[in-house]
This record gives sequence, structure tokens and C-alpha cells, in this order.
Amino acid sequence: MTDNVVWHQTTIDKSERARKLNQKPSVIWLTGLSGSGKSTLANLLERKLYEQAHHTYLLDGDNVRHGLCGDLGFDDKARVENIRRISEVAKLFVDSGLIVLTAFISPFKDDRRFCRSLLAEGEFIEVFVDTPLEVCEQRDPKGLYKKARQGDIKHFTGIDSVYEVPEAAEIHLQYIDESPEQTAERLYVLLQQKGYVS
Ligand code: ADX
Repeated sequence: MTDNVVWHQTTIDKSERARKLNQKPSVIWLTGLSGSGKSTLANLLERKLYEQAHHTYLLDGDNVRHGLCGDLGFDDKARVENIRRISEVAKLFVDSGLIVLTAFISPFKDDRRFCRSLLAEGEFIEVFVDTPLEVCEQRDPKGLYKKARQGDIKHFTGIDSVYEVPEAAEIHLQYIDESPEQTAERLYVLLQQKGYVS
């Protein structure tokens, strides 16, 4: 609870940190089904940004679930809490001046909207990694779709748990049968064209 807790204004603020890092802090929020390519893309994109001398940090679903969110499962309530924590962390990192990349299924619209609401106008860039379920299921990199179809995993997104499609994402990354490097390049160009990154 925040009763009796008063916000302490820090002396150095976001704009000063951003100026020092010479970049516009933001969250590039990748959302999509498991196996859609979010983590792979986020990694490739982070490398490109790094090579352009940007200061970044990547928050990845599977990794965060080993630590900060290690106590959470996959029912609706746990997923809401997962995204709430990530959103607050992302906000802190933006405050520190970084460009934050996130790779979470983040299946619920309200949760993605929550993260957006924590940030300033233009800081939240939603990227819908729109890879069809059939393709994700065919890739099945961790064998999880197979387990979900067999009923060994419950609440699996796209199988027996909902994915709410973004309706107004800043970037809608349509699926094309191409290499991850090509997709990452396509995403990077879109981000540049729209002025989100330099
Ligand atoms: S989210 O829905 O809360 O945003 P998150 O991105 O953190 O999910 O974690 C998704 C990863 O957890 C998937 O890529 C997959 O490897 C693994 N996973 C394990 N169980 C499930 C499940 N029931 N539904 C979806 N992903 C699962």
C-alpha cells in the first residue's frame, strides 16, 4: 500500500539521463503468441541498436520468469501480475534513460494498456509480432504446443487461453516466410521510418 509513503523527487531526472545517453528512452513492447519470434527478434533488434551506440536492456518472458516473476504461473491472474511487474520495471528503466525491449506474450489488452499508461506519450511502442498460430505451432521450439495439445500444459496461449489481438499497435509486423535476420531488419526499418529510433 502507498498510504503514508511520499514520492521522493530525485535530483537527476529522466531528461538529464537521456541527454547524457544521447537517445530517446522508450519501451519497444513485442507482443504475440509463444513461438511467434518475439525473443529472437528482440535479441537481433537489440544488437542493431547496440551497434548504433544506443543503450538498451532486454526483458524476456522466459528469463524474467526465472527470477522476478519466478513465483507466477499462467492462469489469468498470474499473467496480469507478470505484466504489471514487468511494466513497472520497464518504467524504471525508461526513467534511467534506456531503450527497453520486451518480449512477453502479454495476451491481455488491458495489461498492455497498463504499461502504456505508466509512460509518457510516445514512449510506449507496441509491436504486434503477428505470426499465425499454425506457424508457431509448427515451429514449436520448446515442444510446448505439443504438450498443450496433449493436455499436459493447461492455459496455453492460443490453445486454451486467449490472446487478445492488438488493434492499434504502433507496428503490425505481418508474418512473411523469411529469416529472423530479415524480419529483424524489417522491424528496424519500420521503427526508424516512424521515428521511434534513430
Ligand atoms: S505472459 O502471458 O505472462 O506474457 P510470458 O511471455 O511471460 O507469458 O511467458 C511465455 C513463455 O512461457 C512462453 O514462451 C513459453 O515458453 C512458456 N510457457 C509455459 N507455459 C505456458 C503457457 N501455459 N502459456 C504460454 N506460455 C507458456
